[in-house]
Parts: sequence; C-alpha cells; structure tokens
Amino acid sequence: MFKKKKVQKSSTMARKLITVANPKSIVSEQFRTIRTNINFSMPDQDLKTLLVTSSTPGEGKSTNSSNIGVVFAQEGKKVLMIDADMRKPTAHHTFGVKNGQGLSSLLTRQSDLNTVIQNTAVENLSIIPSGPIPPNPAELLTSKTMDSLIEELSAQFDMIIFDAPPVLSVADAQILSNKCDGTVLVVNAGEAEKDGVLKAKEALTKSKANILGVIMNNYAFERDHYYYHYYGIEE
Ligand SMILES: Nc1ncnc2c1ncn2[C@@H]1O[C@H](COP(=O)(O)OP(=O)(O)OP(=O)(O)O)[C@@H](O)[C@H]1O
Ligand SMILES: [Mg+2]
Repeated sequence: MFKKKKVQKSSTMARKLITVANPKSIVSEQFRTIRTNINFSMPDQDLKTLLVTSSTPGEGKSTNSSNIGVVFAQEGKKVLMIDADMRKPTAHHTFGVKNGQGLSSLLTRQSDLNTVIQNTAVENLSIIPSGPIPPNPAELLTSKTMDSLIEELSAQFDMIIFDAPPVLSVADAQILSNKCDGTVLVVNAGEAEKDGVLKAKEALTKSKANILGVIMNNYAFERDHYYYHYYGIEE
C-alpha cells in the first residue's frame, strides 16, 4: 500500500520569506533594489501608501508585497502590511498571525485598530490581516471608513503596503490604487499576456493610479541568477 502524501494548499501553507530567511541572497538583494527604486520614484514627495497588484491571479503579489514590506522594515521604517485581498488572503499565513479579526472587521466597524494591528516576528513590521472574508469587499474598500482608516494609519506608520486582488478580476485594486500614493504591478514574466498587462495598466490609469513601475517576477535571464536561486530557496 502506498501512503498518500499530504499536500497542503498553497493558500494555507506557511510561506517562507526569503528576505527574512536569507537576507544575503541575490533575491533579497533584488528586493532591496526594488526598495531603492520605490524610494527614488517619488523623490519630492513622501510615499506613505503603496499598493501591490497584478493583472491576473497568481503572479506573485503576496510574495512580493510581503518581501517589500520586510526590506522597508529592515531599512528602519515603521511598516504596516495590510492584506487587502479579502477574497484570497494569505498574509496571516506568511507572518503566522491570527486572522479572526482584520481589515474586514475594521471596515464593518466590528473591531478597532488596536485589536487588529498585530506585531510580526520582523522588527518594525506590523500587519493587519484580511479578517473574515466579507460578501462585499469592493463596497467596503470604497467606503468613507476606508479613507479615514488610511488617514489614521498614515499618522502612525512610515509606510503602509497593501496586498490587493488582481486588477482584471475585480474592482478592488482599482479602488485602492486611487487611494494610494503609489502602485506597483507584479508581472509573471513567464506567464503574463502582454494584452492583459496593458489592460491592467489602462484600468489603473483610469482610476488615476500613480503607477510607479512593474516588478518582473520569475524572470529567468540567466542560469545561476534570480529564478534559479528563488526555486533553490523555496524547495
Ligand atoms: N519568483 C518566484 N519563484 C518561485 N515561486 C514563486 C515566485 N513568486 C511567487 N511564487 C509562488 O507562486 C505562488 C503564487 O504566488 P503569490 O501567492 O505571491 O501570488 P499572488 O499574485 O498573491 O496570487 P493570488 O492572485 O492567488 O493572490 C506561491 O506559492 C508563491 O510562493
Ligand atoms: Mg495573493
């Protein structure tokens, strides 16, 4: 008899953060380069709120937003990660925090800020997980409560990073991009269709997003580099 191997779903699996597990790796260095580019993208203005999204699902939004959060915290900034993907939340798994209350509970006024902000094992990095999955995420993100929440949190943190759903699937990222100082689009270099990326860019531009740039994820440009190292660490 063969024993069935227990396979965990990726959404519930504890996720390794390469910038924490291996800060000296080439991939971590790449995340620090992204940090520098983000810092330089708005030289005359304070960048407080950053949205990370992509055109389609599974391109690496959560992985990239979390690691970006870590490298900014490692730089000494007081960082808050917000899991604004209230449809497919994963940040609570990544940072190993409870998800009983979170953004959805704040926006439905069932919790207060002090209850939902949790410390993580990373110094300077706090998190608001998604909270229970609500029936109407886009509506909640459009609310005035969301605006005042951003205002209140901006006074408490140096940088707030939002992980959002994909642009072409639902309106959430467009809504949030309008409220954030900057937006970064993650593109899965191996998979993403050019048309889809252009459509996402158009949608974000329509909602007056300030698109800072694109992160090419899974970009295999030479052996022994990013792609290979990443897989080496993840295995
Ligand atoms: N560069 C990479 N190399 C190897 N694995 C990666 C890379 N980027 C992401 N992954 C893996 O791919 C899967 C999807 O990544 P992630 O959850 O970050 O994407 P997402 O855009 O947030 O997905 P969703 O749309 O479902 O929220 C995860 O298991 C993650 O660990
Ligand atoms: Mg995700």
